[in-house]
Amino acid sequence: MSTIESILNETRIFPPSDEFTKKANIPSLQAYQVLCAEAELDYQNFWAKQAKEQILWHSPFTQTLDDRTPPDYQWFNDGELNVSYNCLDRHLATQADKIAIIFEADDGEVIQSTYRDLHQRVCQLANALKSQNIQKGDRVIIYMPMRIEAVVAMQACARIGAIHSVVFGGFSAKSLHERIVDAGAIAVITADEQVRGGKHNPLKATLDEAMNMNDTTSVKLVVVYQRTGSGIPFNPVRDVWWHEITQGVSTQCEPEWVNAEHPLFTLYTSGSTGKPKGVQHSSAGYLLGTKLSMQWIFDYKPSDIFWCTADVGWITGHSYVTYGPLAMGATQVIFEGIPTYPHAGRFWEIIQKHRVTTFYTAPTAIRSLIKLGADLPAQYDLSSLRLLGSVGEPINPEAWMWFYEKIGQSRCPIVDTWWQTETGCHMIAPMPGAVPLKPGSCTFPLPGIFAAIVDEAGHDVENGKGGFLVIKKPFPSQIRTLWGDPERFKKTYFPEDMGQGKFYLAGDSAYRDMDGYFWIMGRIDDVLNVSGHRLGTMEIESALVANPLVAEAAVVGKPHEIKGESVIAFVVLKGEYPRGEEMVQITNTLRDWVAQEIGPIAKPDEIRFGENLPKTRSGKIMRRLLRALAKGEEITQDISTLENPAILEQLKHPSK
Ligand code: WT7
Repeated sequence: MSTIESILNETRIFPPSDEFTKKANIPSLQAYQVLCAEAELDYQNFWAKQAKEQILWHSPFTQTLDDRTPPDYQWFNDGELNVSYNCLDRHLATQADKIAIIFEADDGEVIQSTYRDLHQRVCQLANALKSQNIQKGDRVIIYMPMRIEAVVAMQACARIGAIHSVVFGGFSAKSLHERIVDAGAIAVITADEQVRGGKHNPLKATLDEAMNMNDTTSVKLVVVYQRTGSGIPFNPVRDVWWHEITQGVSTQCEPEWVNAEHPLFTLYTSGSTGKPKGVQHSSAGYLLGTKLSMQWIFDYKPSDIFWCTADVGWITGHSYVTYGPLAMGATQVIFEGIPTYPHAGRFWEIIQKHRVTTFYTAPTAIRSLIKLGADLPAQYDLSSLRLLGSVGEPINPEAWMWFYEKIGQSRCPIVDTWWQTETGCHMIAPMPGAVPLKPGSCTFPLPGIFAAIVDEAGHDVENGKGGFLVIKKPFPSQIRTLWGDPERFKKTYFPEDMGQGKFYLAGDSAYRDMDGYFWIMGRIDDVLNVSGHRLGTMEIESALVANPLVAEAAVVGKPHEIKGESVIAFVVLKGEYPRGEEMVQITNTLRDWVAQEIGPIAKPDEIRFGENLPKTRSGKIMRRLLRALAKGEEITQDISTLENPAILEQLKHPSK
């Protein structure tokens, strides 16, 4: 917990301007505190009231929370609803012609879709899926480019009660395969290709590769959206074209009314051990969380043009592209490409062109854009912006200040939002009209979220002291279980020794400063945060060891200027310790191998070879030592228990 002091030096404070506060949904600290007090006074009633106000129920719930068997919490359980109905149909009477999505393609082409149009597209695909025998409860993998169709696919699943599981388009065949098998998917929705930064990446061919591996017989249907029209292999028994199965199909589709706890989706995320975890979310609780946070944290106004840059392959793209904004009836931008193509001003150009008011992105993107052109934003008209947001990792105060001054022109509050795949929506984040900001702090929990910092035994620690970040009471948007692995769910998130197994353990360390502000310090488990994405060191190690050249591997993170953390692998080969050209070759082979096995985001930035790995006499890899070596720090720790101290010399230097 050595970072505490350095962060505590941050003393700048930015209260909201009068102008912002005047129009804000939550216009004062007091208004925020009133909501918190309400939640504290009568927890269940607070959530029941919100759920009644925010959600259109097909049949109302009578019980708010069933907490008889923690941590299997059920919210609003006897109520019935449909999430897609809440995102689309509810707007048809009032604003059918409002633009729901302003889509900008990689090459700059713009396509707009109104609520009426989006509703029709979703109904058509939903009907088509039904006629292909996809039913309520079936798992559907979505492996799509970032386009309107990705949202349509997710919403169509929600409409018929099928459980979607989106796999990020950058994942390899191997990762895709693992998710298809774990989910027991009945169908996959994909595209021929994906286009980003002018490059075409095969999606269907990658899926075919995954389908040719073992245990994929559950998949009966593959729907292919034609993005580029490139020739792809087609299996007539299994594959259908999106445009063919939706052709002439009815644009009306009665939603499948589901129970509040019916799983809306699973989404795979990395853990510290074993295979990726299928985080399962509910329908009503999840929808409620995304809607409330749109209003509380994004201060949503009907006139907003909302832009969240996340891909739908991540939770941020679920909550703040596919569900939250649509549930609010917002107009949002969806962008297919990358921030640097065809030029480094692309983000700023999009904000200018579409008059974006609310811009939500990740610190890693901000840092890389600073690097590419700190003064570039000045060439664009960013006057439409009124609110900025950050997510994925702690934002360093320098990046915060640049974002605040150069993008927000010292006018727009920045909401630094702490949350996770597992929490479904923002947990700790400022209400921008109410809370004075401190660069680098995510400030205070949302009303009804009982976040705390505790020690190993689950006791509160005092302000200024670091500890484990927990949430002490259940909340509607939380993870329900891990798909197919309820034991791992309990063990990972509700450890027995903390709050009698009733505290949600986030896996982050954090502290509160003397004003009670929350500061996130980092992960407590073996999970890296690379460019705002969670990667389990275990997964990368397993991938490396699966290569025939490799005997043993250990992966650690090292601070990286742009990515936050970079992946450093320490590798022992089965053969001789490599020298010269051979070392370069093997390094490249192994980097490509990891990209193949998991996806390019997991590629090690550095590989260091040793004849051995540093181990204690009981055979445990000394990870702390490896972290120090990766950072190039002097070794100050006790190495007397080290089996083979001589190898430290080898591991000190990156292979050339
Ligand atoms: C982990 C969750 C939530 C969507 C994106 C990532 C880190 C996330 C912040 C923030 C400091 C943050 C945490 C968390 N994290 N947001 N504002 N400040 N750290 O979702 O892949 O589930 O990762 O990202 O370490 O546990 P995810």
